[in-house]
Amino acid sequence: MPIHAVYPGSFDPFTLGHLDVAKRALAIFGELTIMVVHNPHKEATFDAQTRIELVRASLTEAGINQDALHFDVLAEGLLVQRCLEIGATVIVKGVRNGADAEYEFAMATINRDLSAVETLLLPAAPELAQISSSLVRQVASLGADVSKYVPKVVAKALNAKFGGSR
Ligand code: PNS
Repeated sequence: MPIHAVYPGSFDPFTLGHLDVAKRALAIFGELTIMVVHNPHKEATFDAQTRIELVRASLTEAGINQDALHFDVLAEGLLVQRCLEIGATVIVKGVRNGADAEYEFAMATINRDLSAVETLLLPAAPELAQISSSLVRQVASLGADVSKYVPKVVAKALNAKFGGSR
């Protein structure tokens, strides 16, 4: 039976770093659900539905075969609970640096304590390790070009949102 993994995140917005992790996870697992997690305590640039549409469009833009892919939004509740509901046994995450790793180790431990769901951490490609959604949001909101950091469809959506020129 193929192993079903979940790649969760805020994806606000989806970056080239996220795209790389999604591609690599698809090469490892037989089935992959990309899960946009909505944090009710955090104001988002794009609503969860728009984010998932931008993830889907980014993967299409990258020519990724989506036969083994699913998309989901988690609006409330525990991630591991949703994993169990959809039959996923692994969570996959990208790790860019030591700070990420420390945070992810703690989350992986709690998630494994809460359920039998394991976490696989993928080190970010060095050339993508400096990209973060929060920096992309900041740069885009100041009207500057973010096309080096995000898929074209995401850059377009950010330009439409913030009135960027490129
Ligand atoms: O892209 P992000 O913001 O780094 O993603 C963090 C996310 C959404 C994966 C994490 O906050 C999460 O798993 N939230 C779901 C709620 C939950 O299960 N929390 C307990 C985890 S210890």
